[in-house]
Amino acid sequence: MQLSRDLQQELVLLRASFEQPAMQFPEIWLRDNCQCSKCYMQQTRSRLPHGWNYLDTAVQVQQLSWCMAQQALHIEWNDGHQSSYTYSWLKERDFSPANRARYLRDFYRPEPRHWSGKQFTLIQREFWYQELLSSDKVLLEWLHHLVVYGVALIKQAPLEADVLRKLCNRVGFMRRTTYGDEWSVRAQPGASNYAYLAAPLPLHTDMPYFEYKPGVTLLHTLEQSDSPGGWNLLSDAFHVADLLRQRHPRAFQVLCETPVDWADIGSDKELSFHNIWREPVINLDANGRYKRINHSIPQRDSHFSVAAGQVRPWYEAMALFIQLANVEACTFKTTPGDVLTFDNLRMVHGRTGYDDTDRNVRHIVGAFVDWDIAFSRWRVLRHAQGYCK
Ligand code: OGA
Ligand code: ZN
Ligand code: ZN
Repeated sequence: MQLSRDLQQELVLLRASFEQPAMQFPEIWLRDNCQCSKCYMQQTRSRLPHGWNYLDTAVQVQQLSWCMAQQALHIEWNDGHQSSYTYSWLKERDFSPANRARYLRDFYRPEPRHWSGKQFTLIQREFWYQELLSSDKVLLEWLHHLVVYGVALIKQAPLEADVLRKLCNRVGFMRRTTYGDEWSVRAQPGASNYAYLAAPLPLHTDMPYFEYKPGVTLLHTLEQSDSPGGWNLLSDAFHVADLLRQRHPRAFQVLCETPVDWADIGSDKELSFHNIWREPVINLDANGRYKRINHSIPQRDSHFSVAAGQVRPWYEAMALFIQLANVEACTFKTTPGDVLTFDNLRMVHGRTGYDDTDRNVRHIVGAFVDWDIAFSRWRVLRHAQGYCK
């Protein structure tokens, strides 16, 4: 093992062989992550906090050595403290660009692959309900597909009330909202929500009026309309945003920067609510990647708390976004026993209008799981199935 220091950048460099690039470790980070029992608690797998009461950011490496027997790096610091780090622990945390990319892809979250409406048949995948309940391998495949492509169809679920609960419990637990644990989409007189009409439901994300918007939507078809309507519409809004960014960069910027007021005010099953949240249509993270899309025409408030001059540019940009989303939408019609699952932070979905009759009443049941819970299960399953250490 070759040990050296980059004094200018205050890095410890570790090289297993000449052919391999050196692993990089900032010295101050090594000190913060000392694995000794004074600095780290094995039982809780966490750093002990007291070191930060008197953190000396000027602390320096006095001496480096490699212990062959323990396959560990040993450091003596200039304040007398001593630290050891095993090779496997260091390798996992190497700061080189390739290792950071590997960690983000394999442990944090896999990279989403955006798709156009025409590509839907290529990315579409079906899973069998019973297999999802009985096989952890299939459960992981479903979650992975949902993360990467944003949509997956589950087939052959029974026409029973506990289907969504069983699926959500396989992941972790359901996300409750102001519409309860589960909600029934059925044309109803005096409907509390626009979706509970037989009218066409244009492309939207569910519940943009929540700060903690539900992450994954599950729609279980119990009864489908015999009328020509009731078709599902689905569009990858990350792809739509890509197109907007290429073709209309100014409109893209407007949709990323203009806060919009989203609202759902009313009551459902005796619970009164007043949910409002203010956020742009396209939300980016610190690296400029898509974090979340907000869109629902009925659930956009008539309050629009931006300067009057920002209003027209927003309408013009939004008109382009919706046009592209409609062009890029795929259509299909679920049948009873299907559970359509999709990423509600990414996909926009809707349905065509339909007609109920006395003998045929369209009935869809919906529920949510949060992404935190789904990603946690994805990681636990990957670990158990040997995809990562
Ligand atoms: C909804 C919804 C889809 C459908 O209720 O939010 O998207 O097929 N329903 O009725
Ligand atoms: Zn220590
Ligand atoms: Zn919806």
